[in-house]
Order: sequence, then structure tokens, then C-alpha cells
Amino acid sequence: MDTTGQKFAAKALPYDASALAPSISEETLRYHHGKHTATYAAKLNELVADTPFATRSIEEIIRTADGAILNNAAQLWNHNFYFDAFSATPKAYPEGALAAAIDKAFGSFDALRGRMLHHCTALFGSGWVWLVRNQSGKLEIIEAPNAGNPLRHALSPLLCIDVWEHAYYIDYRNARADAVASHWDKIDWAKIEQRFAKI
Ligand SMILES: [Fe+2]
Repeated sequence: MDTTGQKFAAKALPYDASALAPSISEETLRYHHGKHTATYAAKLNELVADTPFATRSIEEIIRTADGAILNNAAQLWNHNFYFDAFSATPKAYPEGALAAAIDKAFGSFDALRGRMLHHCTALFGSGWVWLVRNQSGKLEIIEAPNAGNPLRHALSPLLCIDVWEHAYYIDYRNARADAVASHWDKIDWAKIEQRFAKI
């Protein structure tokens, strides 16, 4: 519940809308968070009204719904998770258990960065690139078209990069590779460490 009185809502940004510029401009954030994400939330509230999903958590909806309800729930969840990973003063690399898990799965943090950014440009059309922990405890990268979400596949999400054009077109036009490389620099690895510790 938020100030709109609706159950499902875009989470408030944990930084000023201008704080990530020039990697992510204030204009992009105001549209991406204030318009696109807010619209997914409004649509989800509208779609679940008077259905059994109205009383379920968004995670339960993602695991069990289909069609438009699934798509809007997953897009809302994905965007809340996405925006929350950035900081104006990000920790540039992980340490501790997360760093060890990254080294084990990918060889190094630089190798993880290269592979994530490669997947961001390889994914055809709109979607998300995720860093997840699988059920055997190993880290993996997955490409998820459209509103794909790892919870649907019993994977634990750690980080997502949005490669929908609305995430970068104002600032970078069609240059997706430049956009995601710049967005990467605003990821706060202290937050990803916290997520990893909670799985
Ligand atoms: Fe987006």
C-alpha cells in the first residue's frame, strides 16, 4: 500500500531523480520510474481487482498467474528491484561471500561484467538480463525476454539490467551497449551483497 491507496505500487527511488546523471538522466528516470513503472502498478491493481490475486503477494502472483496479470506483476517487481540496485555513490565491486561466489562461477568480477554486458546486447528485443543463484547455490546469468522473472523458475534474483528501449532511448538512442556499460557503473555492489546474504 502506498500514498495512492493502491496495494501494488512503484517503490520510491532511494535517490534523487537527478542523482544518477549522466549515466541515467533525470528525464529517463522520471519517465522510466514515474511513468512506465507506475503504469505497470496501476494496471496490475486494475487487473487483480475482484480476483483471487487481489489478496496475494506480488511474488505469489508472479509464480502462479499468467497473461496480463503475470506480465504487469513481473514488470512492477523487476523495476522495483532494478531501481533499488543503483546509487549515486555506488560500491564499485563486491567483497566477501558474493565476490567468492562470482569468482567461482565466472572466474572474476571483470569476467562477470563482460558476460552480463554481452548478454545485454545479445538479447533480441525487449527484456532483462539477470544475475541469479540457482537451486544448487551456483550463480548464473539468464536472458529473460519481455517481463521474464527468475522467481517463476525457482531462481533467486540478485541483479537485473533492463534492456527495454525505454530504459535508455532518451539518453543513448539506439546505442544499447553504451547504455548498459554506463548503467553498470551505477550499480551499488553493497546492495547486491545484502541481497546475496538474504537468500
Ligand atoms: Fe524498464
